[in-house]
Amino acid sequence: MKSIQINKYGGSDVIGINDNVPIPKVSTGKVLVEVKASGVNPVDWKIREGYFQQMVPLQFPATLGTDFSGIIKGLGENASAGFNIGDEVYGQASVLSGSSGSFAELVLTNIDNIGPKPKTLNPIETSGLPLVGVSAWQALVENIGLSKNQKILIHGGAGGIGSIAIQLAKHLGGFVATTVKYEDKEFVRQLGADEIVDYTAQNFEDILQDFDAVLDTVGGETYKKSFKVLKNNGTIVSMLEQPDSNLMKQYGVKAIFQFTETTNERLTKLAQWIDQNNIKVNVKKTFPLAETAKALEYQKDNHPRGKVVITI
Ligand SMILES: NC(=O)c1ccc[n+]([C@@H]2O[C@H](COP(=O)([O-])OP(=O)(O)OC[C@H]3O[C@@H](n4cnc5c(N)ncnc54)[C@H](OP(=O)(O)O)[C@@H]3O)[C@@H](O)[C@H]2O)c1
Repeated sequence: MKSIQINKYGGSDVIGINDNVPIPKVSTGKVLVEVKASGVNPVDWKIREGYFQQMVPLQFPATLGTDFSGIIKGLGENASAGFNIGDEVYGQASVLSGSSGSFAELVLTNIDNIGPKPKTLNPIETSGLPLVGVSAWQALVENIGLSKNQKILIHGGAGGIGSIAIQLAKHLGGFVATTVKYEDKEFVRQLGADEIVDYTAQNFEDILQDFDAVLDTVGGETYKKSFKVLKNNGTIVSMLEQPDSNLMKQYGVKAIFQFTETTNERLTKLAQWIDQNNIKVNVKKTFPLAETAKALEYQKDNHPRGKVVITI
C-alpha cells in the first residue's frame, strides 16, 4: 500500500511516498481501516520536525498522519466494541500512540480511537474533525463545563479548534468573544461569534473583561495576557501552555493544560452533536496523497480558515 513516510526529522524535503509498505496485520484490540481522507493538523508537521522526539522517539521509516475517516476492513480479537466490517468511521492513528499513521491507504489503530462517522458530513469534512472536534469538546464540555449565558473567549477562532469551539460554545448557550485577524472576521461572525477582536489591531485584554473562561489555541503572550480578562474563579484551558501558578494566584483563576485524547466515547458524542445540530467543518483546501508535503507546508505557513485535507 502507499504511505507518506519520513526517514529522519526535518522539513518538507524529508517526506517521501512509499508505494510498497506492507499492509498492517490486524491484532488484538486493533482495527484496520481503509482511509478515504486524512485531515492535516499542526501536530503532523511538528512530528515531522521532531518536536516530540524526546517524549516518543520515532522508529524510521515512520508514516505521518493523525486524523482520518474511512471504512473498517478488519477487526482484531476483543475489538468489536459494536463495530462491524464495512462501517464508516473516523478517528486517529498517530505513530506517537503506537498506531500506523493516517497518511496511507490503510491504517491500523486501537479500537478506542475510532467512532462512528457523523452522517451529515462527507468523508472529507469528517477527516478534518477528530483532533480539533474532540479538543473543543474536551475543553468546553469537560474541562470548562460551559453553561448558558457564561462568557468565553476563544483565541484563534478561524483555526481548526477555534472554528468548532465557537459553534459548540454557542450551542451550549455561551456568549462568545474571539480573536482573529481582520480577514477572518466575517468567517467567525457566520460561525456565531458575538464579539470579534482583530488581534493585529487591538489588545483583547484591554477590551474584554469578567469572562468565565478562555480557550487558548495560541500560547505565549496571548496565554499570559488572557488571565486579565477572567473573573475571579474563572478557568483558562490552554492547548499549548502548562499552568502558570503565579498568574493563577494573582488573578484567582484555574488554569489547565489540555492534552486531547480522542476516545470512542468523545468521538461518538461529537458525531451525535454534529448530526443533531447541522454543524459545519470548513475544509479550505484538499491535496492528493502524493502532495502531502505541500499540504503540511500550506497548513503551517498559511494558517487557513478551518481545515486542510488529504484525499486518498
Ligand atoms: N495539547 C493538545 O493535545 C493539542 C491538541 C490539538 C492541537 N494542539 C495545538 O493547538 C494549537 C491550535 O491547533 P489548531 O488545529 O486549531 O491550529 P490552526 O488551525 O493552525 O489554528 C490556529 C489559529 O490561530 C490563529 N492565530 C495565530 N496567532 C494568533 C494570535 N496571536 N491571536 C489569535 N489568533 C491567532 C491562526 O491564524 P492567523 O495566524 O492567520 O491569524 C489560526 O487560525 C496548535 O499549536 C496545535 O499544535 C494541541
